[in-house]
Parts: sequence; structure tokens; C-alpha cells
Amino acid sequence: MKTHQYEALIVGAGGAGLMAALYATKGGAKVAVISKLYPTRSHTGTAQGGIGAALGNLEEDSPLWHAYDTVKGGDYLADQNAVKVLTEEAIDAVIELEHMGLPFDRTDDGKISQRRFGGHTSNFGKAPVRRAAHAADRTGHMILQTLYQQCIKHNVTFFDEFHVVDLIRNGDTVVGVIALELGTGELHIFHSKATLFATGGWGRVWSVTSNAHSLTGDGAAVVYRRNVPLQDLEFYQIHPTGIYKMGILITEGVRGEGGVLINGRGERFMEKYAPNIKDLASRDVVSRSIYLEIRDGNGIKGKDYVYLDVTPATVNRYLAEAGETRRITEEDVEKKLPDILEFCRVYLGVDPVKEPMPIQPTAHYAMGGIPTNVDGEAVSDENWTVIPGLYAAGECACVSCHGANRLGTNSLVDLIVFGRRGGKAIAEYVKKADFVPLPASPEKEVTAEFERIRSSQGKTRPGELRQIMQKTMMADVGVFREEKGMKAALETLRELKHRYNTDIHIDDKGQKFNTDLVEAWELGCLLDLAELTTISALNRTESRGGHSREDYPKRDDENWLVHSLLTKPASEEVYAKGAQNPIVNCDKKVDMSLAEQDERFKPKVRTY
Ligand code: FUM
Repeated sequence: MKTHQYEALIVGAGGAGLMAALYATKGGAKVAVISKLYPTRSHTGTAQGGIGAALGNLEEDSPLWHAYDTVKGGDYLADQNAVKVLTEEAIDAVIELEHMGLPFDRTDDGKISQRRFGGHTSNFGKAPVRRAAHAADRTGHMILQTLYQQCIKHNVTFFDEFHVVDLIRNGDTVVGVIALELGTGELHIFHSKATLFATGGWGRVWSVTSNAHSLTGDGAAVVYRRNVPLQDLEFYQIHPTGIYKMGILITEGVRGEGGVLINGRGERFMEKYAPNIKDLASRDVVSRSIYLEIRDGNGIKGKDYVYLDVTPATVNRYLAEAGETRRITEEDVEKKLPDILEFCRVYLGVDPVKEPMPIQPTAHYAMGGIPTNVDGEAVSDENWTVIPGLYAAGECACVSCHGANRLGTNSLVDLIVFGRRGGKAIAEYVKKADFVPLPASPEKEVTAEFERIRSSQGKTRPGELRQIMQKTMMADVGVFREEKGMKAALETLRELKHRYNTDIHIDDKGQKFNTDLVEAWELGCLLDLAELTTISALNRTESRGGHSREDYPKRDDENWLVHSLLTKPASEEVYAKGAQNPIVNCDKKVDMSLAEQDERFKPKVRTY
């Protein structure tokens, strides 16, 4: 078995991973990026509408307003120290990307162009503000290409198509990872002083998702199995607008450009649910509204979808009604939303400049994940004790700057800001830290697991289990939740896990590029995350942000203005006893009353 030694390992080559790799390298560390995909296929490349920063290029803005929106949008669960870092550092993060060569769209006078996005307002909620800096509807793609080029320029070493399948610890310290080389089927040991996970989310837990097939939560599952707790898993965001039945994202930028949601009665129904901000309300609100319309029989033709209409005739009618002077043309739509138009034309045969798009909510983003502080250091308990050698950034991490519900455009900022901070912190750490020795045969357990999957002679193909899991999660642990449905879902998931462990078979028994084997292993990660999400959601007896319980419809600040940390020993104990409460409530991080919150954090934010 090959063993490699690097001072720093970055697992994942999306925006957070590349930014961390770049900064760790610039800081002098010997760095390797390990990615199960070729880097420019990472999921950051699918982010569309924009990156939020209070540049104030088109109208007055400030990081304080951005912070206010982020805390409010996150239903007050976000950690305000992290939000402050996010919104203040967003500005020079975007300018840094610009200086690296990212081709942002421009205003007529040459500044970075910005558009509206849900929940982003000026003056503490008074009016929508143009805050999302964008490159057409391909902002993530441009970020990914730009950062990859920078990494190549700075001689970062890449292990492409190496799939990290285990974390190596020596006592408390993280000392590396095990990776499967997809091309050969061989396992490799990577020995490090510091390891940063930037492996993205786990949208593939749900049946309708904007996430690519690769988004299987491996990073979160792998560290959890090695006793790192996971935070706030109950908060999973369902984006309001995915292409009907396919889930492919239709950017919120469509509504930012003036697009409106229309039900089967031809009504602009968001006027009813969010009279001020309407279609640009935060995502949890819009997704719930769409579900309620569908439930009331107001879907298109009574079915489970509604329309998103960005045709100039409709948009201009509503702009005129709102007293706005701005008008849009077909050319504007073509120029600003080229990818969306192409998706709809190719996949649906629908031309959005002439007709409305059929959409439904789609599983999109994990607010929870590996708990970290603002320097990307992973922590192990409610006292926020740092785990030596382990870091996380981006969607797989929970810093927590998004709280219970992330605002659109804030994930791209999160990648850049906290990827950069993680990379800088690692560069400092490896200067002082020594390599802690590897334990004996660290590959033993994961080798046995791959052999079990490869040689299993059961009756069930992994894909059958995946489908049941995805449908169960969409139905019972999706936009709306209640105890009975979630308990049934938990039963189903445990039965699926049992079958996964005892009754599967795969067809490909080979070594090279064995995607059958890898997908079966990934299913194990998805099942873990589905189960942990359900346990966390059952436990939280209130509604907040992306977690909406029909049996507990109110937000309960007295009892639940807290984060959840799910630890492995706790959940295993629960498993054994059939009990139900493995959550540690960490109220240390959010200990301010709501009334005090806004006031207390105002003075701490710089105004530009
Ligand atoms: O709607 C969008 O373009 C998605 C952006 C995001 O998730 O931040």
C-alpha cells in the first residue's frame, strides 16, 4: 500500500477546497488536494445566480445590512461572530476573485454588476437590494475555473479521482486519510499534520435535488464514523425552484431579474404569503408557500408543480404595477440567464423567454455539518474544543453562519471566506506542529468494508435501497415534517441499513474504475446522513428556518435557541436502547435574547 506524506491535505476541490489549498500553499505548507472528481467538475461549478457582498455598486449597501439579513434569514440561529466575519470579509473576497481574473458581469460604468436575491435587503429589511455579484448565471463555474487556475499557477499538487473513504486518528489527533484510487482500485494512505474537509453536501439523500450524483456526504459521514460530532443536521434547505421532476436548479436570480411564481389559477401567490418582499422572500418561506398551494389544489393542472414566469410581458406588467421604471426585454433574459434558458429548452422543450417554466422545490443545501470555529478548525463538543489536525470549510462544515436557513448567494461567500481562513490557519498550524505517527494498519477496517461490499451475495441491488431512502426522505423529512411521519421514516431507514449491511450485491467485482462498488459505498454514507438528519429533526420540537414541523408550528426561542450536536457514541447508545434523544444542546454559542441580538451586534460591524 502506498503511503504519501504532506503537511496539509485538502479533501475536495470545490470553491472551499481550492481556496484553502491556495492559501495554505501561499503560506508555505506542502499541500495536496484529494478529490473524487476532476476538480473542475466539482459542484461549486453548478452555482448560478451570484455571490453576495455589500459592494454597493448599484445602490447603497453595507455589511451590517448583509449581516442583519443573514441572521434574520437564518431564523436567529446563526452565530453572529461567524456572520460578522462572513459579511465583512465578503467584500474583499469578491474583489480578490476579480483580481484573480474572474469575469464578473459589469455595469455600464465598469463596476461589478449585482442583482437582487431572496432575503437580501437594504436598511434592515426596508427594500430589496442588489447584492449578488454575478457572471451571467454561471457564477460558480467561473469561481471554480478561476481558483483551479490559481492553484495550478501556485503548483498545488492534485490527486484527481482519489476518493477519501476513511479518516485516520491517533488518539484525538487527526493524522491523515485513506483514499481509494478510482483508476486502479488501490487504497492509499495519506499522512498529514492537518486535514481540511471541503467535500460539499448530501442532497442525494432526497429524491428531488439540485445536487449532482457525487453529492453523497462522504466527508461528513467519514468523520462522524471516527467520532467527530455533526451539528444542526435537522436544517436542510429545500430550494423553491428546481426543474419539475428533475430537480435541476433554476436560479433565484430569475426572480432577482423580476420573474414571478404563478399558481394553477394564474395568481401570483407570493403576494399572499410575503406581501412586502413577495417572490424574493427567503427560500424556506417560498418553498413552504409552493407546497401549500399544491396541497390546496392550486398546482398547475392540479399537479405538484407551479410556474416560474420570466417572460418580459409578465415581468414588465408586475414591474409597472409596483411603480418601477425598469423594464426587461427578451435580449436581457437571454444575456443574463443563458444557462437556465438552455436547460429548459433542452430538457423540457420550454422556452422561458416565451412561456413559463414548470418548477417544484428541490433539495439543495445542508446548513448543518462538521462543527467548526471561524478559522475552520473542527470542534468536538459543546465547549467548542478544537480537534487537533482537523479542519472543515464550505457546505460540509457548520461554522454556523447560515443558522437554520441559508440566504441565496451566501454559500459562495462562505466557500471563499472560510476556505481562505481555513487555508491561512493551516499554514500557521503546520509550521509549529510535528507529524504525529500513523497508527498500525489504519486501512484495515475500510479494506474489510470494501471487501464485504464486493463479495456480498445478497438479493438487493444498492440502487433499490437508495430509491426507497430518497422517496422516504422527500415525503417525511422534507419541507414539512411531523413526528408520526419521521418515526416511520426512521424505521424504514434502519431497515434499509440492515439490508445494506446484510443483503446487497453488486455486479462489477473488478478493481479498475469500479463505480458499482463506489456507489454502493456512497450509499452507506447517504444512509448514515439520512438517519442522523431524521434523528435530529425528530428531536427538535419547534419550527425554525428550513425545519418546519406541522406538530410544532411555532419557533420556540425559550427552549430551542440552541445548536444540536449529534455524537456517535450518543447515537449508538440510542440505537442500542431504542431511546430517542442523542442530542447535546449547545446554548453557549447563541445566548442572547432576540431583542438584544440586533442591538448587541451592531457596534461590532464596520460600516463601509
Ligand atoms: O438560486 C441560486 O442561484 C442558488 C444560489 C445559492 O444557493 O446560493
